[in-house]
Amino acid sequence: MAFDYPGKNRAYEAALSRTKECLSADDRENGLLFLEKAISLSDELRLNAAIAEFQARFAKENASLRKIKALLEEGKNPFLKKTQAVDGAPTSKDEEKKEGDSVTGFFSNEPPKTTLDDVAGLEAVKEQIRINVLLPLKDPELFYRYKSDAGARICMYGPPGCGKSFVAEAIAGELKCHYAVILVPDILDKYVGEAPKRIKAIFEEAEKYENVLLFFDEIDAMCSSRDSDESTHTKDILTTFLTCMSGFKPKGKSLKVIIGATNRPWALDSALIRGQRLDTAIYVGLPDEKARQFFVDKEFAKHKEAYEGSDLTKEYCVEALDGFSGADIKTIFEQAATRTLRRVLDDKLPKGQYYKIAKADFDAALKAHHNPVTAESLLRYAAFEKGMPQ
Ligand SMILES: Nc1ncnc2c1ncn2[C@@H]1O[C@H](COP(=O)(O)OP(=O)(O)OP(=O)(O)O)[C@@H](O)[C@H]1O
Ligand SMILES: [Mg+2]
Repeated sequence: MAFDYPGKNRAYEAALSRTKECLSADDRENGLLFLEKAISLSDELRLNAAIAEFQARFAKENASLRKIKALLEEGKNPFLKKTQAVDGAPTSKDEEKKEGDSVTGFFSNEPPKTTLDDVAGLEAVKEQIRINVLLPLKDPELFYRYKSDAGARICMYGPPGCGKSFVAEAIAGELKCHYAVILVPDILDKYVGEAPKRIKAIFEEAEKYENVLLFFDEIDAMCSSRDSDESTHTKDILTTFLTCMSGFKPKGKSLKVIIGATNRPWALDSALIRGQRLDTAIYVGLPDEKARQFFVDKEFAKHKEAYEGSDLTKEYCVEALDGFSGADIKTIFEQAATRTLRRVLDDKLPKGQYYKIAKADFDAALKAHHNPVTAESLLRYAAFEKGMPQ
């Protein structure tokens, strides 16, 4: 059956508004139920969105909703106090400006709680960051003995859901500095004709901070092909971005980190990834066996009692999840748990009695899950990595 996009979108909007309603009234129990529904719907919408822009929107909203869930699990309700609001949450757009707020509205000085230890795999990115960004802070004497400039200019590319945005968040969490997440398609949409000005303003604000991280997500949006209609508009944006980036350099021992991410690296203008620009290109691919083990261990530890004694083993999961992104692995586990929960409710188990999350639940969730990362797309990334023409 075809995916009912408008219907799902309506259900998603309704779940969002019910979540907000319940949590604003501090009804955490129902708020959490609607929030979980919204998380699952945003995942479905992301996976079935035909346009990259919508995929990005739902991925971003999904991440924000998960942050709200994590806060609720920590006993905090971000809807009761503005200071607890979550960055980028679809429900918190019209926040008032407070003293000390970011001038452009893009910067936050409240670092995320995520750290590099939360990131599965992605060793090449972690290594870059540990040496060029964290070491100069931790042991400047050692670092500056060998190197003169700290900081990083990284371009991460790879299939959706493999952790590009997540690792950027973790870097901000490690650095504990001002950071801005800029979703390039959003800038292009919201500030038609004004986008270059906005980009300039972001870099100007970044200059004010000692240590700062700029994360430009979906950077391919500023590089439309030169002969398309939008070329003049996007060319202006790209030129502004390149000029600003050239001036964005560490001064003294300050740290300037700039990261771009895309899942269409072949669409990037070569000027963006050469020389003193985003010169370290890193492929962020599907999780390998070790990274899948990380996800599986985490899931089993989080719901220990639901897995203990089940016929579903960790080894089986690690093997069966080969070929899925981190985001998909999380969704599959979530769907498997929902299936078990549904069985408990349908069978009206007496209070205190539960089913384990069984292999059959996991297999059914796996089978129902559409994998957006195709073998064909992986070949294209491999060809790009080898510098082959696209
Ligand atoms: N390597 C990873 N380690 C830990 N969590 C991950 C990893 N990869 C994905 N995830 C989980 O999946 C979610 C989605 O991943 P993320 O948005 O970072 O992917 P992405 O590569 O930026 O995708 P896209 O290309 O669609 O923007 C994250 O919020 C995180 O929960
Ligand atoms: Mg992303």
